[in-house]
Amino acid sequence: MKQLTFLLISLVLLLTFTMCQQPNGNDQDEVAQKIDSLIDLMTLEEKIGQLTLYTSDMDQTGAFIRKEYESDIKQGKVGAIFNAYGADYTRRLQEMAVNNSRLRIPLLFGYDVIHGHRTIFPVPLAEAASWNLEAIENSARVAAEEASAEGLHWTFAPMADIARDPRWGRIVEGAGEDPYLGALIAAARVKGFQGDDLADLNTLAACVKHFAAYGASQAGRDYHSVDMSELMLREVYLPPYKAAVEAGAATAMTSFNDLNGVPATSNHFLLTELLRDEWGFEGFVVTDYTSIMELLYHGVAADTAHAAELSLKAGVDMDMQAGIFQQSLTKLVSEKRIQETIIDQAVSRILKIKFELGLFDDPYRYSYKEREKNNIMRPDQLEAARDMARKSIVLLRNEKNTLPISNEVKTIALIGPMGSNQRDLFGSWSAAGDWTKAVSLAQGLKSRFPDTKIIVEEGCSIEGNDKSGFRAAEKAAKQADFVILALGEAYWMSGEAASRSELSLPGVQQELAELIIETGKPVASVIMSGRPLTINWLAENSPALIQAWFLGTQSGNALADILSGDYNPSAKLPVTFPRNVGQIPIYYSMKNTGRPFDENNKYTSKYLDVSNEPLYPFGFGLSYTSFHYDKLTLSQQSYKMNDSIQVSVEVSNTGRVAGEEIVQLYVRDPVASMTRPVRELKAFDRIWLEPGSSKIIKFRLHPNQLGFYVSGKKYITEPGKFSIFVGGNSNASLETGFDLK
Ligand code: NOJ
Repeated sequence: MKQLTFLLISLVLLLTFTMCQQPNGNDQDEVAQKIDSLIDLMTLEEKIGQLTLYTSDMDQTGAFIRKEYESDIKQGKVGAIFNAYGADYTRRLQEMAVNNSRLRIPLLFGYDVIHGHRTIFPVPLAEAASWNLEAIENSARVAAEEASAEGLHWTFAPMADIARDPRWGRIVEGAGEDPYLGALIAAARVKGFQGDDLADLNTLAACVKHFAAYGASQAGRDYHSVDMSELMLREVYLPPYKAAVEAGAATAMTSFNDLNGVPATSNHFLLTELLRDEWGFEGFVVTDYTSIMELLYHGVAADTAHAAELSLKAGVDMDMQAGIFQQSLTKLVSEKRIQETIIDQAVSRILKIKFELGLFDDPYRYSYKEREKNNIMRPDQLEAARDMARKSIVLLRNEKNTLPISNEVKTIALIGPMGSNQRDLFGSWSAAGDWTKAVSLAQGLKSRFPDTKIIVEEGCSIEGNDKSGFRAAEKAAKQADFVILALGEAYWMSGEAASRSELSLPGVQQELAELIIETGKPVASVIMSGRPLTINWLAENSPALIQAWFLGTQSGNALADILSGDYNPSAKLPVTFPRNVGQIPIYYSMKNTGRPFDENNKYTSKYLDVSNEPLYPFGFGLSYTSFHYDKLTLSQQSYKMNDSIQVSVEVSNTGRVAGEEIVQLYVRDPVASMTRPVRELKAFDRIWLEPGSSKIIKFRLHPNQLGFYVSGKKYITEPGKFSIFVGGNSNASLETGFDLK
């Protein structure tokens, strides 16, 4: 009998493996059959193994590590591993699974490849400032090429969380505040990671996260509660996740927060009704780190078994790091609290991705030394990172054409803690990136201005009160013809578990800036940070001001491209910059209120001590040239519900150099059955214009882009008047309007 079972298992396995040798060629039914026959062979313990994800001890991204993960692998008690990369390392772990576990099911290797793997690209918020979907897709493509050559199959990205509170450190990992821009970027990232076919060797399965509304954590405090109307959820927070699902994201991750009283990890509405039933998601759902266990702290689960039951029933397929499925599911099945079929369903979703990745064809296909050698930090990949970085840099101020730095300049003083800094340039999540390979601003300037004297003075460190370097910094500034002030946050001040309640420059950097700017020299301040900072003083006093975010491996070169004028800045803020923390949350698509701001009326919606206006609006960013907008025209004055609304505008380059402009179109529905935002971004285009030239830009809108949710998933477009604004930022003043009948 035993022999017969063994023979049967071997036969099915042989069939399963051989029939999956060409994952591309398998039609879906065939794969489904293979999966079913494999599941038939599995013990309950082996099934639970497929639902279990543990971190290796190579890298640590959370508080807890299970020491026995290697023996779990050998026994088939774990189906996926994260924080392990490298051809050799992943091969070693894969061998443990394939050579020891009874069914030899390959492991899935995941990692946080968020903005590059070895070649680190700008942080996601910075990339979003490019508004350049091709470049963003390419950035994810390069990351996938590198990571998949190092044994990885799966990235925990993109983060599609809308964030309107810069206190929240994770704002750095997303695309900012706007659902329209955020959705396009989330989809571009999924396409970049996954390419055309997961079976291709250079692709990664994407994981859209954190589902859902993690970015709305109260008061910007990480892991905090979220409470919002379903209308707000559907209109603002869900579109980027949905776009990622529509772009084919293979997996999704739950978020840490509770939403309207139900933790995301046990939220049936989110994980089943919305994600699967409404949006048709067919991949698998993984929890965030230990978040099944956290159901106990949320106070919805009495014990770990209860937590497992709640999350599995809600729609979770894979348990990241809590080990709670491993501990509890057998018991829950035997007590009939859950049916084994629900486990089978989760196993089948996970195996499907393993099949699609070609792991049943060759479990080691991503772990070849030779491929690893040839696909990491190649010159073309470094060049792509440099190009993405310069496309991400936002010029905020440039009085009297302080920038670019003229070739006549003999001495540049580079002052501030970010000047020769390499350690902080990657920002949050650096995957396998080596910061010692990052090009500092000092290095970038030296290679761009080889004949210019460059004096580098730190002045002060990022944090702390030590001003002993001020004198030397002041002296350097006085000796120079041009000063670059390189200021900002440390890499760990944004990202996970990195919320701040103050958003000013840390330490004594502001005082350093005051001292240096007082010298009267031409100064360009360069701010490296993972979030908007309250840089009001610099905005008024620094002759030039640049928001450089964290730009990754090619930081210094990209900044030198911008500072020298070799590259004309084109990026636009993907998030509003507040004047102070009290204005938060502040975003451009606010409601008008019943008492809109009126300077002369106390009883209107405003503050006593700060204006309603942000420091910099969403969509704002300057260029070394200037653009003029004119002739905003509609194809008709009124449209029907099925018409296409055609808008055109003439944009001219009125300055002296060629440049790129991001032309933005906003809509307002001034009278509707529900209150509507004062503006909503509905379209944009990037155009390149030579000096003195003009171009007519055309946009097409469909009336179904102008609607809103009235209740649940009911979305309507109401007839009536609409206003259109077009310009270079969300304050665009050029306006027209039409009737929708
Ligand atoms: C916790 C983070 O919230 C999530 O974004 C990340 O993917 C996991 N840890 C794994 O590192």
